[in-house]
Amino acid sequence: MTSEKKIINNFKKVCICRSIKGGTILKAMEDGSLSFEALRRTIRVGTGNCKAKRCRANIEKMISEFKDDQDLPLKPQTVI
Ligand code: FES
Repeated sequence: MTSEKKIINNFKKVCICRSIKGGTILKAMEDGSLSFEALRRTIRVGTGNCKAKRCRANIEKMISEFKDDQDLPLKPQTVI
């Protein structure tokens, strides 16, 4: 992703119901929230009125792209 696109995405609202911007999601992913459920717990994405119907696909796409950039496994690791 180009740096211009990254900057634009940082200010774009991804979870519209909760007014959560791409930059907030990116920061949470950098801090280790690498699944939709982890992001839901940490920054409350997908907890608005639509119950993630509008934002889940976009957030999961962001997670996938972030992992591709980081070269991490796609599935979250099981914690025992
Ligand atoms: S847009 Fe994210 S919960 Fe509605």
